[in-house]
Amino acid sequence: MMNPSDLIKEYYRPGSRVYEIVLTHARKVSRRALEAAQQAACLNPDPVFPDLVFIEEAAMLHDIAMFMTDMPKLGCYGMHPYICHGILGRRLLEEKGLKRHALVCERHIGTGIRAEDIRSQGLPLPVRDMVPLSLEEEIIAYADKFFSKDPKYIFREHRAEDIIRKMAQYGPDKAETFRLWHKKFGKQQNTAEK
Ligand SMILES: [Fe+2]
Repeated sequence: MMNPSDLIKEYYRPGSRVYEIVLTHARKVSRRALEAAQQAACLNPDPVFPDLVFIEEAAMLHDIAMFMTDMPKLGCYGMHPYICHGILGRRLLEEKGLKRHALVCERHIGTGIRAEDIRSQGLPLPVRDMVPLSLEEEIIAYADKFFSKDPKYIFREHRAEDIIRKMAQYGPDKAETFRLWHKKFGKQQNTAEK
């Protein structure tokens, strides 16, 4: 049985600032993803059964490669552009034999990055679709959008409206994808919708 926290410790020194950031963020996303999975299971017209063990593990590991990127604000002094943390994480987890978790790393950025986005924006990524496909991948990418890694805001959960507004900056299709996820995984169904 794999322990995600042990794996994080292989790459981040406990007690370091970046370790605290990665672990805190991972736990937040993991907890939020499990809530979202519960919503998906209860509220969908057709019963769905997300793999909760996988969701918890993969959510803990989705940003594992952050340290390889150049993001001093978050205590990361690697050589790669930040947007590469997804594909780098995939490589890293594949080397550990965690193929399914590896795909979550690659596919969790924003609501997913399309080959077309990579081409048209000249992103420093291989040109292929990196979009959540499975229910579990969608749930983790969804949960991730609620949390920043900026230490100032790391404990704050963003509001869905604000996330939608932010996603819209990357294109109306991105905002729409998040809106659809929020319908499937969001908490709003429990209360009267405004
Ligand atoms: Fe994240």
